[in-house]
Amino acid sequence: MPDVRKLKPARGWSRRLVLAGLLSLALPALAATHQATPARDDDANAPYKVWDVTPAITMPPLLLDVSASSVVVEWMTDSDADGSVRYGERALDHTAVAEHDGLLDVGTFHRVLIDGLEPGRTYQYQVASRRVVVVKPYWPERGNTVRGETLRFTTLDPAHAVARFAVITDTHEQVSRIHSLLGEVRKTPEDFVAHLGDAVNWAASEQQLKDRFLAPTAADLGGSTPLLYVHGNHEYRGPFARQLGPYLHAQDDRYDYVRDDGPLHLIAVDTGEDKPDDTEVYAGLDDLRDYRREGLARFGQTLAAPRTRTAPFTVILGHQPDWGWTGGNSAKWTKLANAAHVDLFIAGHEHVFKFIKPGERGNDFPILVVGQDQVAWVDADARTLRVRVTGSDGKLVDAFAIARKAKP
Ligand SMILES: [Fe+2]
Repeated sequence: MPDVRKLKPARGWSRRLVLAGLLSLALPALAATHQATPARDDDANAPYKVWDVTPAITMPPLLLDVSASSVVVEWMTDSDADGSVRYGERALDHTAVAEHDGLLDVGTFHRVLIDGLEPGRTYQYQVASRRVVVVKPYWPERGNTVRGETLRFTTLDPAHAVARFAVITDTHEQVSRIHSLLGEVRKTPEDFVAHLGDAVNWAASEQQLKDRFLAPTAADLGGSTPLLYVHGNHEYRGPFARQLGPYLHAQDDRYDYVRDDGPLHLIAVDTGEDKPDDTEVYAGLDDLRDYRREGLARFGQTLAAPRTRTAPFTVILGHQPDWGWTGGNSAKWTKLANAAHVDLFIAGHEHVFKFIKPGERGNDFPILVVGQDQVAWVDADARTLRVRVTGSDGKLVDAFAIARKAKP
């Protein structure tokens, strides 16, 4: 077997073909990812070593947490690479990269934030990952670049007259359920899809998260419909739970966030776990009490902002319809929502459809609980918020409308 360190850098296409042949002997794992046609802008005459190996995209682009000016793009490759996205309205004339603290991220999971966008505009984009073979102090060794297909997304527009989105929840690792529900969603153009949590039964590994949630969701959404993710209680559990943030966080590295889409002011909340911190099954490793207290403070600040009063409709997106375990503060969450004249709370967790009328639990607003095999379809204009809930068979489960109310 040749000594890899003695191989010379590839300086031309013909030499790279020779190198690829040697690699098939020396590095079977790398050779397995070889693709015949490298991307055109890979520099064959680079002064550093360039192996003729190309990453394969193993998870197509998933658009996460779209806003009026930004979106996160996530994808995966089968081998270590950097991540960049070329994008623009008329041409791919801008580039955003995955980096932290001045260094390009290197790995198999790629997350790039595109910001500085205009509201309500459609952009084309293309992901790219260039292989990183060895990271050394000087002269790291590179490979070829794989590029995804050119896709399109549209930013949210708070000034738009109408908005529409779909909600699914509690897919609990059932890929067939994801395909079934998102298969329905793909039939209509939605501004985004909200997933209200419990995507996994517990967090086991990156591979599990990819196979059971991210990759099938990305495939179904086609790289064009963004996902808004809401944190479920099951995502708090398991050996990989502490590593979920970089995959699922919103742009500011939190699970609670605010988005405005036409007449809709959307507030995503993290309803945490469903049992107290001192429940024996957690073995003293949970600290939801402090986290939820901080979340309550942010919820209050968010609701106090002028947009809550001026937007035609304020809608809360959360996993547990009773706010989860709050350390005794559940009534405070409801009181804040009541005081802000929230119009609707959409939740999951229960796995069956429920419509909790105003007044049933101290709430002045209706609470819609979306079932596990259901899609909630929300659309709104400046006067009316309409919701339909259908089963995965497309049959109507329930429908209701909420008229805009005066908010002093
Ligand atoms: Fe749940």
